[in-house]
Parts: sequence; C-alpha cells; structure tokens
Amino acid sequence: MNLKKLTILPAGIDVLLPAGSPLTEVEYEVQQRPIPFGCRSGSCGACVIEVLDGLASLGDPDPDELDFLEDLGRTGGTHRLACQCRLRGDATVRVADDI
Ligand code: FES
Repeated sequence: MNLKKLTILPAGIDVLLPAGSPLTEVEYEVQQRPIPFGCRSGSCGACVIEVLDGLASLGDPDPDELDFLEDLGRTGGTHRLACQCRLRGDATVRVADDI
C-alpha cells in the first residue's frame, strides 16, 4: 500500500494514510483529536490548518474553500480547511488555534 505521512502540530503526531485519503481519516487512526473537525463539509472553519511543508501534497483548494479562507482572514496561501484536503504526499501541518 502506498502510504503517505501527515505530521500534525502542535500535537506532534505522525499519521500514515493511504495516498489520496481525506484528512478526516486521521480520526480513525489516532485516539486523540489532533485536528478539531466540525462540519466536515467546508463550512464551519473548525479545521483550519497551516501547511508548514508539503502544500502541493494536499492538492489545490477549490474556489469555495478559498473564498471561505479569505472570509476567515487566512489569505497567506498556506492555510487550508483540513476537511477539504486529501493526502497525496507527505505533509506537515499545524492546527490553527486562534479562530
Ligand atoms: S470541519 Fe468544518 S470547515 Fe472543515
């Protein structure tokens, strides 16, 4: 199986997922909730992450996600809604904690 590694900060957790898995799969792999998912549909903003490494590994955000991130003030280009991402390569993310 082609596994990719997602490192989640600040929890410091490494999760291996099959390539192409949605990041929501993290919840099934670890006991903790290192990413605070809410709606899982890109509309609540609970799961905002900053991508520290491997931005391209998470694919391109669609226009709705970009609009919502802008509404949230996350305009730097390194933030994503974790629930809208799929892991296609290794990546390191940090959960945003000031929303
Ligand atoms: S869980 Fe609500 S936007 Fe991602």
